[in-house]
Amino acid sequence: MLLLTFEGIDGSGKSTQARRLDASLRERGHDPLLVREPGGAELSEQIRSILLEPDLNVHPMAELLLFSAARTQLVAERIRPALENGRIVICDRFYDSTTAYQGAGRGVADPEWMQSFHHRVTGGLVPDRTYLVELDPETARTRRAEGAPTGDRMEAENQDFYHRVAAAYETLADEHPGRIRRLDGDRSIEALHTEIWADVAALLDETSGTPHAATGSPDS
Ligand code: ADP
Ligand code: TYD
Repeated sequence: MLLLTFEGIDGSGKSTQARRLDASLRERGHDPLLVREPGGAELSEQIRSILLEPDLNVHPMAELLLFSAARTQLVAERIRPALENGRIVICDRFYDSTTAYQGAGRGVADPEWMQSFHHRVTGGLVPDRTYLVELDPETARTRRAEGAPTGDRMEAENQDFYHRVAAAYETLADEHPGRIRRLDGDRSIEALHTEIWADVAALLDETSGTPHAATGSPDS
C-alpha cells in the first residue's frame, strides 16, 4: 500500500526512526513490513555479509552491483508481495543509498545513469516517501563511536567520504522535493518521530483505499 524509506549517513539515527515508526503503526493496528538494506531476504542477507566483511577487496563497480543485486531480490521476494497485499513497507535504506554512497562516495557513476539503473533494478518501484535524517558527519561519527561499533567495511571509510555522501543526499532531496523529506537529525528521537508520524498519518489518509502504484510512478 505504501512504501516508506529511510535514508541518511551511518549514525544519523534513521534505523531508530524506522523501528519507532514500525512500533507506532503496530500500536494502531497496522501490520507493516520492516526490512533493511542490504538484506531482508536470504540471498540479500548473504550479499550483505560479503559487502560488510572488513578488509575484503571490493571494486567500486562490483560494490554497486552487489548492493543492487541484493535490492532486486528483496523487492521481488518481499517488498512487492507485501505492497500487493495492502501492507505498509518500511525500508531502512533503498536506492538513494546507492546514489549517495557508490555514486558520490565512490564516484562510480553519474546520477543520470544511476537513476535509470535503479529503475531496472527495482522494476520501476519508487518509494511513496523517503525520510532523510540529516546530521553532520562529525556528530554522526560520535554517535557511531558511542553505540556498538559494527567494525564493518563501509563504516571504516574516512570523514571526506561521509561529507560527499551527505552532500549527495542534499542534492537528491533538492531534486525530489515531493518524495524526499529532509529532517533535522540533531533532535530527540521523539521529536523526530512526531514529525515523521504527522506525515505518515497524512499519507495514510490520502491513500486509504488506493493501492500502491507498483510500477512506473514518476520519481518526483
Ligand atoms: P543509523 O541507522 O542511521 O546508522 P541508528 O538509528 O542506529 O543510526 O543510531 C545510531 C546511534 O545513535 C545509536 O546508538 C542510537 O541509539 C543513537 N541515536 C539515534 N537517534 C538519536 C537521536 N535522535 N539523538 C541521539 N542519539 C540518537
Ligand atoms: P548498516 O550497518 O546497515 O548501516 P546503517 O545502520 O548506517 O544503515 O550497513 C549498511 C552500510 O552499507 C552503510 O554503511 C551504508 C552502505 N550502503 C551502501 O553503500 N550502498 C547501498 O546501496 C546501501 C543500501 C547501503
